[in-house]
Amino acid sequence: MEVTEPLKWEHEVVLDQLRTFEKALDEADWNGVRDTLRFFDERLLLHRRKEEEILFPALGRHIGTEGGPIACMLHEHQDEREKIERIRSAMARGTGHPETLKEVRGAGGYILGLLRNHIAKENQILYPLAEDTLSVEEKGRIEEGMNAIGFCWQKGDLQASAHCPW
Ligand SMILES: [Fe+2]
Repeated sequence: MEVTEPLKWEHEVVLDQLRTFEKALDEADWNGVRDTLRFFDERLLLHRRKEEEILFPALGRHIGTEGGPIACMLHEHQDEREKIERIRSAMARGTGHPETLKEVRGAGGYILGLLRNHIAKENQILYPLAEDTLSVEEKGRIEEGMNAIGFCWQKGDLQASAHCPW
């Protein structure tokens, strides 16, 4: 199995959640939006941590982290965090406020585009590069580090089980 394979399964879980999020934005379903925020806080966070704390530093020792694909991915993670925060602060003003729906749809739509694009770039460019570049020993350490952080699906998670082998 490739060392980035579990990260690709996580991407499928994230893409599932984005479909739910898109529907919630269309229907102004605030509970659906809140569920997605919780997913971002509790589960997407684990995915980002495995990239930022484990995979990117290891790959960065070969290809550098200033400029290039890793800098680009880190920049997009930051952009994503800012837009999530924008949704949270708009909602804190009250979902009945006339501007709230507009702002949440604006930032939410941005996140949908950003994350879908970001996932495609990682799957197609960054992860294959990591597979080609990292040594067997490095991959072993990465696997250990990622397992210690944990994964963004939960046992019995129906959405996830379609994508994950256990
Ligand atoms: Fe990712």
